[in-house]
Amino acid sequence: MIKVLFVCLGNICRSPLAEAIFNQKITDAGIKSHFKADSAGTSDYHIGELPDERTIKCAALHEIPISHRGRQVNRTDFRDFDYIIAMDDSNLRNLNNLKTRFGFPEKEIFMMRDFVPESEGLSVPDPYYGGEEGFMEIYRILDEAIGHFLSQIQENHQIYA
Ligand code: 4NP
Repeated sequence: MIKVLFVCLGNICRSPLAEAIFNQKITDAGIKSHFKADSAGTSDYHIGELPDERTIKCAALHEIPISHRGRQVNRTDFRDFDYIIAMDDSNLRNLNNLKTRFGFPEKEIFMMRDFVPESEGLSVPDPYYGGEEGFMEIYRILDEAIGHFLSQIQENHQIYA
């Protein structure tokens, strides 16, 4: 079982949408049983909350089920997840600090858009303070990046339906 954790700041916009898109793709591909996906935030701002209503609307428009409650990254995440994927530089910095504090200094943290050729180093932009169009934009970015990520891990782990 390959465990994937998507991480942003609040865990109500980008990372729960990433989790939902990933789950949809593995379901469509008939390989769901090989994976466990989850999401978390570096902050404690929205613990226990449903995704932002704009995230829910965006997922519904794309006919993707979304059900998640906000939670904060914790120590056991660094032990349990094979792939921990940050949405932006700030998330990456925070995760790299946390992994050392929690006793996993060697753990590799990935950046979501590094899986996309020509997009290495780019962020999935924080849509929280913008309008609904920002959510459509992150959907497009995440859909592309997760497609590349999934192809890569399928190949790495030889997982095919
Ligand atoms: P997310 O977006 O990190 O993609 O979930 C945000 C959600 C909440 C806040 C910032 C970003 N906030 O400051 O409350």
